[in-house]
Amino acid sequence: MKPTGLSPTYRLQQAKPAAHACADPKASNPTPKLRIAVFVAVLAGLTACGGHGGGNDSTGQTQAALVAAGKQTFRFDTFGDETKWTDALRMQEVISTVDPTTALAVGLKVDSEALPAAVVAGIQNGSISLTSPATTVALLKLDAVVGVKGKVENVNGTDTLTRVGFTCALCHSTVDDTFAPGIGKRLDGWPNRALNVGAIVALSPALDATTRAVFNSWGPGKYDPRFNLDGMNGPQVIPPAYGLNGIHSITATGDGNNIAYWNRYVAVTQMGGHGSFSEPRTGVNVTNGNDDQVSNKLPGLQAYQLTLDAPTPPAGSFDVVAAARGQAVFNGAARCSTCHSGPEFTDANTRLHPVSDAMGEPEAAGVPSYTSRSATRQYRTAPLKGVWQHAPYFHNGSAATLDDVVNTYNSRQSLGLTSLQIADLVQYLKSL
Ligand code: HEC
Ligand code: HEC
Repeated sequence: MKPTGLSPTYRLQQAKPAAHACADPKASNPTPKLRIAVFVAVLAGLTACGGHGGGNDSTGQTQAALVAAGKQTFRFDTFGDETKWTDALRMQEVISTVDPTTALAVGLKVDSEALPAAVVAGIQNGSISLTSPATTVALLKLDAVVGVKGKVENVNGTDTLTRVGFTCALCHSTVDDTFAPGIGKRLDGWPNRALNVGAIVALSPALDATTRAVFNSWGPGKYDPRFNLDGMNGPQVIPPAYGLNGIHSITATGDGNNIAYWNRYVAVTQMGGHGSFSEPRTGVNVTNGNDDQVSNKLPGLQAYQLTLDAPTPPAGSFDVVAAARGQAVFNGAARCSTCHSGPEFTDANTRLHPVSDAMGEPEAAGVPSYTSRSATRQYRTAPLKGVWQHAPYFHNGSAATLDDVVNTYNSRQSLGLTSLQIADLVQYLKSL
């Protein structure tokens, strides 16, 4: 899918050829040497890349290098979280016993562009077995399993997974399935709604039965990013990491003023990366290790995320005429635009909302209100660009389809919409 309306940073990245002193921002899979070069370019800032053109050029070069570094971080950086996933949870032991077919079944994705021609041919002619755990290790060695970073070493003549960690791409990327289901080109920013994070983590031999039961209760596409801190169980749908440019209120509850706030939160408190996160509003205060591997990557990570535009709907996926009528309903009779306003369809930059405004509430029986666990204790109006792409809806996924969303608003807010207005509104949402 080719996104339209590229953000200015992305356009700069495309337009400016890299000067030789700067890292190539277009390199999609730099070698370790080039990766270091990218970071050097970023750290060195304007001056190192200046002198090759005008002021705008050097700004563009620096920005492009920053975005390129952020892309690497998003896809491949564990921030040292192997301390958690390898040393504490011993995930390398179980991942080594899982064959690719099973891994694909729990929603893990394979990056087809990381596969050499011989491997592609081998998978196609069946000489490389997708039911052999050794193939999983081989794929990890190729850095081809999206969001999973493995270290494979030769132990007594056998390729062995000795360290494993996770990256942001695990939850916030998927693939386009062009090679086979679950195998294709990366789609960064698209939430992996097939991924059963809970079932994967529950495989850890280091967990007690109670904790394991909580992880197994989540199901695909969901993750509770606070459970390990407050002990409560109320998983959230994994949201897109695209379409956030211009939105200065991050997460379903608007906990952060910028993406970097939450990126630091996840990298440190959830992934187990080395660094610190502290939030007086919730009392969360976590430091892992004494070698901060998070802070200096946050500017690049944010810059890259801001280049990820929401995907436009596929041609023919909605009724254009009905969508035009639905737009009038959205702005008129249904009053949706009183909150879903502006280019991103959210008032998030000016206000948050009480629990009573959120149709994902009340939570299912026994689940605490998600706001009660947040820093703001309120909800953000969800941005709607690309909403066609990421069912189920609301923070907890309580609405399976856009029809369910509109019907919920219609009945809960006594909007009195006709069935034609409801159908048109759904077509409009599919067009965003
Ligand atoms: C295990 C799955 C998982 C991983 C790994 C993960 N996230 Fe998330 N992410 C989530 C969930 C679930 C939420 C929803 C949190 C909420 O709304 O309270 C979220 C929310 C976000 C948001 C807020 C989106 C919005 O609409 O405001 C951003 C940005 C984000 N993550 C970025 C990252 C980055 C960067 C990383 C790597 C450092 C990362 N995430 C790693 C699951 C994950
Ligand atoms: C009073 C403010 C307000 C109004 C009016 C409003 N919304 Fe929302 N909308 C929200 C909030 C807050 C959320 C997040 C709710 C949650 O996660 O539980 C949301 C979530 C959504 C979502 C889910 C998006 C996602 O990523 O899961 C959709 C779709 C949506 N609204 C569509 C509409 C439509 C259609 C209307 C008009 C019928 C409407 N909204 C009216 C505030 C509002």
